[in-house]
Amino acid sequence: MASGQLFEQVSLGNLTLPNRTVMAPMTRTFSPNNVPNDLVTEYYRRRAQGGVGLIITEGTCVGHKAASGYPNVPMIAGEEALAGWKKVVDAVHEAGGKIAPQLWHVGAIRKPGVEPGGDTPGYGPSGMAMPGKVTGHEMTKEDIQEVIQAFVQAAVDSKNIGFDAIEIHGAHGYLVDQFFWEGTNQRTDEYGGDLAGRSRFAIELVSAVREAVGPDFPIIFRWSQWKQQDYSARLVETPEALEAFLAPLVEAGVDIFHCSQRRFWEPEFEGSELNLAGWVKKLTGKATITVGSVGLNQDFLPEDGTSNFKDAETVNLDELMTRVENQEFDLVAIGRALIANPDWVNKVKEGAIDSLKAFDKKQLAQLV
Ligand code: FNR
Repeated sequence: MASGQLFEQVSLGNLTLPNRTVMAPMTRTFSPNNVPNDLVTEYYRRRAQGGVGLIITEGTCVGHKAASGYPNVPMIAGEEALAGWKKVVDAVHEAGGKIAPQLWHVGAIRKPGVEPGGDTPGYGPSGMAMPGKVTGHEMTKEDIQEVIQAFVQAAVDSKNIGFDAIEIHGAHGYLVDQFFWEGTNQRTDEYGGDLAGRSRFAIELVSAVREAVGPDFPIIFRWSQWKQQDYSARLVETPEALEAFLAPLVEAGVDIFHCSQRRFWEPEFEGSELNLAGWVKKLTGKATITVGSVGLNQDFLPEDGTSNFKDAETVNLDELMTRVENQEFDLVAIGRALIANPDWVNKVKEGAIDSLKAFDKKQLAQLV
């Protein structure tokens, strides 16, 4: 299998990485009292030692009372949590890697009782976690500004403790995406209406973060068409609509778009093989990260059983390498394969595909 440029050093603006591989952000709920501890540090250190170029941390909640939706998720606010993250950053740097936190607010998905936040309900553009069902609080304009400030503070703190970039979580039906998506944004003020209006929150957020961190600190923005509330949801149906959606985010200060797909080989629009990250790169000229079932074989296994796990994995990776060589996108994020194999990058680089373990949900029970 050709190694292509996947394993070569790359510079994207101010971000220089040892290679083009990225650890996808994955919530792990192993941070008691919302503080990343030594087990979390070692978990990330192992991935950096295993060759990952850029680690994007699990979603870590900004300092707003309704930001968190799940127990034992780390915060990125408050002295203790920031001290915990500083240890993670130092460990990853010692191992030669780079790292960005994924700044997260779950929005209306939150249910009262999750800490931190106590009785605070879910907050969303229309208080809806699911289209048409108001279960939480409809954000006022004051709330909107408060949340933006929480992201700004988290970004500034991230920069100060040595993170190499930040990623804003704008995907998968959480707060930022609840504004984007008409299913969960029924507002009639300037933060609702057409997609341009529904994008206003994200645009203001990115602009405010950019102003606070200065022109040189890399901002990654993750977004997706799919929502966990509805896998078939789509924000844009055509390249023209995609271009109009992205232009103001570029203008606001996004450096890199992390384009979340469930399978990296799926074309985004009819008539072209380009995937979502391919289209976003082509339309914006910005660097992009692709993701989705890299190194996972299930979709490549023929139903007649004529092939096995390793053959299927090789086909998947060959497809990936070809797309990297064609410069369809710049970076490649890997999720579950890296849960199963902390040293996935080094193993694939060395051609040791045979020694890779398959991902199994049971592996999520521990932080290995
Ligand atoms: C995820 N994913 C995810 N995405 C995100 O933006 N923030 C998050 O906190 C999480 N959490 C999370 C936890 C777990 C256990 C999994 C498996 C996934 C989605 C993830 O980043 C990635 O997009 C998908 O897993 C697809 O990549 P793979 O796993 O197919 O390589």
